[in-house]
Amino acid sequence: MGATKNKRPAGLAKEPAAPAAPQEKEGRAAKRQRLDAERRRLPAWSAREKLVELVKDNQVLVVIGETGSGKTTQIPRYLHDAGLAQGGAIACTQPRRVAAVTVAQRVAEEMGTELGGKVGYSIRFDDKTSPQTRIKYLTDGMLLREALVDPKLKRYKVVVLDEAHERTVATDVLFGLLKGVCAARPDDFRLLVMSATLDAAAFTRYFNGAQAAYIQGRQFPVQVMYTSAPEDSYVDAAITAALQVHCDERPGDILVFLTGQEEIEACERLISERGAALPPDPDRSALLVLPIYAALPPEQQLRVFEPTPPNTRKIILSTNIAETSITISGVRYVIDTGFVKSRSYSPRLGADCLQVTPISQAQARQRSGRAGREAPGKAFRLYTEASFQQLPASTLPEIQRTNLASVVLQLKALGIQDVLGFDFMDPPPRAALLRSLELLLALGALDTRGELTKPTGERLARLPVEPMYGKVLLASGEMGCAQEALAVVAMVSTDVVFHLPRGKREEAAEAHARFRSREGDHLTLLAVFRAYTDVSKKGHERASWCRAHFINPRAMRKAVDIHAQLKEHLVALGIPLQSCGEDSLPLRRALVAGLFPHAARRQMDGSYKVIATGQAVAIHPSSVLCGKKAECIVFNELVRTSKQYARDAVAIEAAWLPELAPAYFARQHANAGR
Ligand code: CDP
Ligand code: MG
Repeated sequence: MGATKNKRPAGLAKEPAAPAAPQEKEGRAAKRQRLDAERRRLPAWSAREKLVELVKDNQVLVVIGETGSGKTTQIPRYLHDAGLAQGGAIACTQPRRVAAVTVAQRVAEEMGTELGGKVGYSIRFDDKTSPQTRIKYLTDGMLLREALVDPKLKRYKVVVLDEAHERTVATDVLFGLLKGVCAARPDDFRLLVMSATLDAAAFTRYFNGAQAAYIQGRQFPVQVMYTSAPEDSYVDAAITAALQVHCDERPGDILVFLTGQEEIEACERLISERGAALPPDPDRSALLVLPIYAALPPEQQLRVFEPTPPNTRKIILSTNIAETSITISGVRYVIDTGFVKSRSYSPRLGADCLQVTPISQAQARQRSGRAGREAPGKAFRLYTEASFQQLPASTLPEIQRTNLASVVLQLKALGIQDVLGFDFMDPPPRAALLRSLELLLALGALDTRGELTKPTGERLARLPVEPMYGKVLLASGEMGCAQEALAVVAMVSTDVVFHLPRGKREEAAEAHARFRSREGDHLTLLAVFRAYTDVSKKGHERASWCRAHFINPRAMRKAVDIHAQLKEHLVALGIPLQSCGEDSLPLRRALVAGLFPHAARRQMDGSYKVIATGQAVAIHPSSVLCGKKAECIVFNELVRTSKQYARDAVAIEAAWLPELAPAYFARQHANAGR
């Protein structure tokens, strides 16, 4: 799939006689040897003794090194090999799930052990560790969860906060927590902060003048090109640019930065189609298009790291994950669309928005740099130089722009009363913190003194979902529909399940129609979940069911997984797992009990207004409620494209709002109303 087959006529070979298919028959020993040799070539290798020494002598060390210098894969191992994990383990955090998994896999391979043995990973809804695990890669969010049950993180001798420059919310909170752990465990705890940006000052300052170590990287010159005029569609422009590079430029793989799974899948198809239609040229190598994004199954994620086959050019289509978290060798050309999809909280809307936004100048530089890791390279920026000049110099830390409810709840659960006074490296806006406190109060997680409530607050802090969904689950126990609520929350936590392949859109829409519920998307998703789990558990039967109904099988497997884990949590909390059968009423009421801050009411002109904020929203075209006339809805999230869209909505009765969230609506009515 995805490769154009341009067989080179015999005798025309231009490449030096390459050893035949070097990777295919490589035995275990040979592979270890190759990996060992690769390790020794990394910039981190020559710094390893010094690094170990510095860690022994300093409780906090800031390590700065270019992306690809071997920080993530090598440094935890150096510390392990030097005995620094003795009596405990080393944790290395990653902002992204994909990175945690692929890196753990790689390090296990390098060490010649099984994944889940000495080396493991832990991400939400997926844990591959055992009591033997000494080096554990985990998302920063997971380490934060672990801190809830083990505030001093006693099981770790060393914590490595990796990709610190990304400044995710979880990493920012961990900074504060780990500073406390350092103070509490002066003798048997070490902290490393690793970053790919050259500016260590913010980190060293925050950790009271901590020591910094620099890994001497290699970087070859990269020629940066801009478009002369703005592009109408960066996706089209990216496809054209990739094929142009393929036709005109010397060998070397191409890395294309796009914004998300759907876009990547579309590009993958179009590049393959258009690549196959290129006029034949015996000198042109074959094309191999490989996607990489968070929701891709791990086996497929690893394909991008496999060496490119002979006479082939790889085109890697990536989200910003390849910006700093992972390094793919062989890349000589970078195509930068200039966009990234990011989640941000809009205080005006009172909700998180997922939207495609322009990158920062720092990100643009980082992306271009990916072309010059092994040799001089070229970067094609699909925007004008003037637009580049207008980009913000650097990205705002996430904590400054997202919904903090979950973070504030966790801080409270950690016993940190004064969240406004928490030692944040860059404190979030006070208004955003206050708003999250308000939301948690409305959900009943905090009392009026701002203290965590028992049991609601404690339970919500433990559930690995946003507090609003957590509240839906808790309420469902009381309303006798926990089985349905579990399925719904699992379904909204997985990826898009409805598959609409090009050319078969109508057929697919027809297949989906049987699941449609007039009452809303949550009930529609519930119908899909029920139908899927009714099919025999045998993998192939479920797979063929998915094919027949145009349902994404991966997303369904993930939903089933999430469902199982959330169920365990509810059982542990003693929530009765009852079913409301075919009566949707209890479930819709449970949804209201958690999602009421996202309630919207229909206006005279058919548009909707969020009750809490007065903001106008439209129902997303993908919603079963689009074009219907539901009086009142609650929805999951807002998506901003041309308009503000409410995605995943369910029809409710307006009268339930003051009944299920009395304090909230009594207050809100004074502010907004219709
Ligand atoms: O963390 P940093 O960016 O400094 O580097 P790293 O992630 O440790 O990567 C070091 C090297 O390992 C790079 O050359 C990667 O290409 C390689 N690597 C790999 O081949 N496969 C992986 N799954 C992870 C890393
Ligand atoms: Mg790294």
